[in-house]
Amino acid sequence: MGKPRVYVTRQLFDEAMDVLERHAEVDVFEGVDEAIPRDLLLSEVSDVKGLLPLLTERIDEEVMDAGRQLRVISNYAVGYNNIDVEAATERGIYVTNTPGILTDTTADCAFALLMAASRRIPEADRHVRARKWIHAWGPRMFIGSDIHGKTLGIVGMGRIGKATARRGRGFDMKIIYSSNTRKPEIEEELGAKFVGLDELLREADYVSLHVPLNDSTRHMIGERELSMMKGTAYLINTSRGPVVDEEALFRALRDGAITGAGLDVFEREPVDGNSPLLGLENIVVTPHIASASVETRTKMAVTAATNLVSVLQGIAPPNLVNPEVKKIKPLES
Ligand code: GLV
Ligand code: GLV
Repeated sequence: MGKPRVYVTRQLFDEAMDVLERHAEVDVFEGVDEAIPRDLLLSEVSDVKGLLPLLTERIDEEVMDAGRQLRVISNYAVGYNNIDVEAATERGIYVTNTPGILTDTTADCAFALLMAASRRIPEADRHVRARKWIHAWGPRMFIGSDIHGKTLGIVGMGRIGKATARRGRGFDMKIIYSSNTRKPEIEEELGAKFVGLDELLREADYVSLHVPLNDSTRHMIGERELSMMKGTAYLINTSRGPVVDEEALFRALRDGAITGAGLDVFEREPVDGNSPLLGLENIVVTPHIASASVETRTKMAVTAATNLVSVLQGIAPPNLVNPEVKKIKPLES
C-alpha cells in the first residue's frame, strides 16, 4: 500500500516537511506571498487523507465535502476559528492545532506592541528617518506614557494571557483580568485581580486581548466598550481582528476616546489598503506576526506535522481540538 497523500497549503520549515515525508506523499502549494486559490484547494483535497492549512484558509463544509478521504486537518496555528470544527467532527475528521508552543512568543509581541505604542517608538522612528528631527532636542518631543506603575487589564486569562500578565508584573504593573473562569493560581502568583469586563475597561491603562474568536467574542470590544476605557488608555490586540469592531476603534482613536493602540490582527487580513486606521499616527500595526520567531514558527510546523502524521498512523495526536470525533470515527492503526 502506498503512503497516504497529504496537502500543505504553504511551504513549511524543512524539519516539518521531513516529518511529513517520512509518512506521507506530500504536496505543497508553491505560492510564496500569496494564499492558495480556493479552487485549487478544493481540487487538491479531493484525494488527501491529511490537510495542513494556515490560519488564513477557511476550511468549511465545502472543503470537507471535496475531501471525502480526509481524516485529519492540522492547523498551523493555535487559533482554529478558520475551521468548522463541528462539521469536521460530524464527518469523523480529526482537527488539531499548535497550543502552548507560541505562548511566550505571542506574549513577547503583545508586550512589544504595548511598549511601542506607549512610548511612540515607530512614530519617533518615522520622524527621525524622514529627516524631520531638524530642531533642537526638546522636553516635549514624543512624550508618551509610563508603563511601570500602571494597570494592565488582561481580557482572557488563558496561556497567552497569563504569559502577558507575567511580563506586566515584571514591569511593575498592577494586573487585573476578566475571564470565563477564575484563575486562583495566577491571582496568587501575580496578585492579579479578577474583575468583570466593564470594570476592567474602566480601570485599565492598557487593555490586552487574549481570547479566541468565536460567537461570544466577535466584536466584544465595540463602541460601548471603547467608550468605557480611560481617555489615556491603550488597546493591544494580538488575538483575532474580529474581536474588535474596527470601525468603532477607528473612531475612538481619531476622536481621542482612547490614546493609542497596538494591533497585530485585523478584521480583514491582509489589511485593506484603504482602511482609515492606517492613516492614524497613534497606532502601531504589524501583519499578524505575534508568533513569528524562528524558534516558535519552526516548532509550530513540527508540531502541526506531528499531529497530522499521528492521526494517519492511528496514534492519538498530541493536540486534538475535537476529542468527540473519537466516538464518530475511532483511530485505526
Ligand atoms: C496565530 O494567530 C495562531 O493562532 O497561531
Ligand atoms: C494559547 O496558547 C492560549 O490558550 O492562550
